[in-house]
Formats: sequence, structure tokens, C-alpha cells
Amino acid sequence: MMDSSNYNYSENFSIVHGFIMYKEFAKYWDAVEAFQARPDDVVIATYPRSGTTWVSEIIYMIYKEGDVEKCKDAIFYRVPYLECRSEGQMNGVEQLKEMLSPRIVKTHLSSEHLPNSFWEKNCKMIYVCRNPKDVAVSFYYFFLMVPIHPNPGTFPEFVEKFMDGQVPYGSWYKHTRSWWEKRNNSHVLFLFYEDLKEDIRKEVKKIMQFLGRKPSEEIVDKIVRHTSFQEMKNNPATNYTTLPENMMDQKVSPFLRKGVIGDWKNYFTVALNERFDMHYEQQMKGCTLKVRTEI
Ligand code: A3P
Repeated sequence: MMDSSNYNYSENFSIVHGFIMYKEFAKYWDAVEAFQARPDDVVIATYPRSGTTWVSEIIYMIYKEGDVEKCKDAIFYRVPYLECRSEGQMNGVEQLKEMLSPRIVKTHLSSEHLPNSFWEKNCKMIYVCRNPKDVAVSFYYFFLMVPIHPNPGTFPEFVEKFMDGQVPYGSWYKHTRSWWEKRNNSHVLFLFYEDLKEDIRKEVKKIMQFLGRKPSEEIVDKIVRHTSFQEMKNNPATNYTTLPENMMDQKVSPFLRKGVIGDWKNYFTVALNERFDMHYEQQMKGCTLKVRTEI
């Protein structure tokens, strides 16, 4: 279990409701909790590194009926990151307040920590789950490329922290379970990164249906083309390259890094994998969720 004293392994982290949060975000947590949702808000919720940007772009394109010309601004302006805050630079709550409806709201909060207003207003919420082994690898590179993070150490050292929930947003297991428990709520759509990789057309149609749009083959075609890994990697509106290097150093690792299932096999030794699997079983005991670590 996480010892909450461990968060101070980084001066940039603090604790909010028992999980690690970026100190700058945590300072203004009251504003996040008091956030006023609007009934037509759509929430894209994920544990970090699970395909948030990908699904954000898909939802945005659905709203714009596949018109790429309307998707030219950077994704972090079009789909504000609710809890994101940094002095003078980012303020997700303010950005959203000023935004016209319908808004698409990005968050990495678990279902229990999502501001109440989203539940009270019956907003639609889309959760994307990605297998934790690939998340751990992707998060490791994110630690390396985003200087606000401490040095993650070796990959096995980082995996220990990940398993312990000693990373921003805390335990993957708790986070995922919190949303899995909501999967039967008619306002929640629970998706898997692996399903998107396996059959993107099917998943795009599923999202369109959930959002009350008629899936037209023509729009689906446009969305699939525009949100492919290569397109998004080369697109300055989705690849985060417009952020300054002191926020994200893409020379260390690109934000859109590999975009595959199973990269974890290049990082987990047999022993680490066995340890991870055992820990997974304990953490997910009694939970019916099944993740796929390969397809
Ligand atoms: P990798 O580091 O494994 O490449 P998030 O947006 O939640 O931070 O998730 C980032 C992860 O999603 C990265 O994983 C990134 O490459 C992947 N990703 C982003 N867009 C994608 C796309 N269009 N197709 C597949 N994977 C994508």
C-alpha cells in the first residue's frame, strides 16, 4: 500500500484525497471540486497515458462532423484539461468556464473524485482503459520527457512505484476499478485502448451512437483517417509540439511515442512480469474487468 509520506520523493508532488497530484494542480483543488458542469458536457476520462488524446480528437471530430478544417487549434485548447493548473500558463477550470457549449472536458480523475456536478447533471462520460503494462511503459517515458516529474530511475524501479500508486493520479487499479463500477450507468461508455487498436471503425461508431449521432460511413472514414497514429503524430494540433521544451521535451521522447499494444514486452523481464501479474491478481481480486495485454 502507498505510504502517503512517499509522495515527497518529488518536490512537485503533493497529496489530494490520498493520491499523488501535481503540487500546482493540488493548490487549486477547491476550484476543481466546485466545478459547475453543464448537462451537455461530455467528459473524456482516463488514467494517464491510456489514449486520452486519441479519443479526445475522435470526439471533437464527431462534433465537427468530420471537418478537419475545424480541428486546427491545439487539442488542449479544444478539449480543456479540467484539473490542469500552472501559474500564469494553464487553468483548465477557467478555460472551461469561458467556453461555449457543447464542451468536451478532459480529466484523469477517478469516478469517485470527478466533481459531483458531472454526476448531478447526468453528463455523458467516456472512459478509456489501457492495459497497465503498456501504461507503465508509456508513463515511464512521460516522466522522462515532462520535466515536472522526478527522475523515474530504472524501469523496474518505476514499475514498483506504479504498482504502489506512487505516481500522479495514484493507483491504476483503484482508478480503473472506480470507472468499471460505473460501466452500467447509461451515461458512461467504458472503452478499451486495445479495442480501438483492433477495430477503430467499430469503436468510432460506438462513440457516435453513444453521443446520439448517426454513424455515417463517410464521417467515420474521415475520422479514422484523421486520427490514425501517424496522422496524429505529424499533426501539431495533436502532438503537443507547440508546447515549450521546458514543459515537454519531445527530443527525449515524443508525446505520441509508439501507439502499440504489447510494447511492455520490450521492458518487462520474465521475473518482473511474474511479480506484476501476481500483484495485479491481488489488486483486481473480485473485479470482473478483463484487460488484454496483447491481441
Ligand atoms: P505510447 O507512449 O505507448 O506510444 P494519453 O493521450 O492518454 O497521454 O496517451 C498517450 C498514449 O496514447 C501514447 O502511448 C500515445 O502514443 C498513444 N496514442 C495517442 N494517439 C494515438 C493514436 N492515434 N493511435 C494509437 N495510439 C495513440
